Amino acid sequence: MQLMKRLLAEDGSIYIHIGSNMSHYIKIMLDEIFGRDCFRNDLIWLYEGRELSHTEYNAKHDNILFYSKSQKWIFNWNHPSVRESLKESSKKAMSRFKDENGKWFVLRYKDGGGFAPLEDEGEHTYRQYVPEGIPPRDWFFIDYSRKSERTGYDTQKPIAILEKLICASSNEGDLVADFFCGSGTTLAVAEKLNRRWIGSELGKVGIQVTRARLVEQEAKPFLIENIGNYQREMIYLTGGKIYKMQNLILKLYGAAPRDKMSGLGIRKAEDGIEELVYVGYPDRPVTAGKAEELAQQAQKLDGRGYKRLIILGWDYEYNYHQALESRKRALKDKLKIEVISRDIPPDIYDYLKKAKTEEDIEALSEKVKFYERPYLKMDTPEVKDLKDGKVEISLEIKRYVLMDIPISQTSKKGQEDYAALMKIAKDNFAVLIDYWAIDWDYDGFTFKSQWQAFRGNGKKAKTVITEAKEILEKPAPASSKQGKKRIIAVRVVDIFGNDAGAVVEV
Ligand SMILES: C[S@@+](CC[C@H](N)C(=O)[O-])C[C@H]1O[C@@H](n2cnc3c(N)ncnc32)[C@H](O)[C@@H]1O
Repeated sequence: MQLMKRLLAEDGSIYIHIGSNMSHYIKIMLDEIFGRDCFRNDLIWLYEGRELSHTEYNAKHDNILFYSKSQKWIFNWNHPSVRESLKESSKKAMSRFKDENGKWFVLRYKDGGGFAPLEDEGEHTYRQYVPEGIPPRDWFFIDYSRKSERTGYDTQKPIAILEKLICASSNEGDLVADFFCGSGTTLAVAEKLNRRWIGSELGKVGIQVTRARLVEQEAKPFLIENIGNYQREMIYLTGGKIYKMQNLILKLYGAAPRDKMSGLGIRKAEDGIEELVYVGYPDRPVTAGKAEELAQQAQKLDGRGYKRLIILGWDYEYNYHQALESRKRALKDKLKIEVISRDIPPDIYDYLKKAKTEEDIEALSEKVKFYERPYLKMDTPEVKDLKDGKVEISLEIKRYVLMDIPISQTSKKGQEDYAALMKIAKDNFAVLIDYWAIDWDYDGFTFKSQWQAFRGNGKKAKTVITEAKEILEKPAPASSKQGKKRIIAVRVVDIFGNDAGAVVEV
């Protein structure tokens, strides 16, 4: 909250939406951080539906605390989405007082200023234009369940609320931030209202829903940055020693730590091969360079050398798989070791907390799954010269390979589902893809999503197309790194939230 206050513009405001069982605690915090003189309102949002309790009043309102950063704040009370509409009786009384543009007015006598009937309009009267509504109250009714808006995200908020708050406290071009953006309602509304926006969200599902929603409404290009993971941060914040955490993860994977602090372990695999296992650092992605270095070491390590290297990573560099493949090719036969890269599951922190004794670890190691990283293979792009300084590029996904599917196989049903899905994944990988995007002129640094295909949510879901076509200028703009070569980057996100990238050159 302190940070949010620092980030706010001087004439900006903050709205905190929280259930009524918490809002009074939060208010005390906000009074301290923003100052009591910056408290503006405790807004009450009323709704109805599913009144099921017979023992107490059904809770059908939420609180939204409204604070300004300073004593000078934007408040557009007369915006159509902010003001309250007139009562039906007032509208009726006023109905004749509308000009040719539909604007409301009252008629007043120039002499004395009293109200005049419409029949008296003339030189001795003037029209005083009035707003079409009244200044807003600190409570309002907004229907919770408008079906057409639903994305399927549990805690999704109605568009109308965000419209009201954003229109009241910002102007076009201003920057709106929602640090708990969920399904992205705030961002979608900010985009529609020509505001710039920033959102952050912890969950992969929220990010996927938000992205699909913004793409669907044809938002201007935006970036998605992965800036670390709450649980990873927690490991640092709780003062945990990294090597201890690495050793615990090794044990959860079934490997014995090789020494105290290297993050390396040894495991006897089901097929009898002795594997060298490496656990990455929580705050940096595993790069192809690191993987090659580890592989080189592993081939010679412990006198005998290992035939298989397992990498357990929190995150991998963009284009990891492809970069590692080309490193292997460049080394020809020198790198014989098999390298398998797996993801450390995002809920590992919960497991680490529970793993107190050796028995705990053994019991938990059955549950924790380290899935192999999926990878993406693109076909060689086809380039058609259109002769007018333009080219048509066709790009197709050759394969999206998912090594494992996060379905528990402990029950018979689980095993059947797993087998069925693995078969589908092999025969028709497109059904696994939630979203894929292309940056036709990748600068090697920032992925700009210029073309997208996505599955959609709920009933609107459909299998994505796997081929993209685009007409582009020739030659590639100078932004592409290697002079005249165009570098195209592709990013795929699957329905389980895994992502994979590839880069192709034309
Ligand atoms: C009530 S929901 C927001 C719903 C949103 N207004 C909408 O319309 O969909 C709160 C969101 O905050 C996210 N969240 C919780 N802790 C977070 C954190 N530390 N950083 C980022 N997001 C977080 C949750 O995953 C959840 O999606």
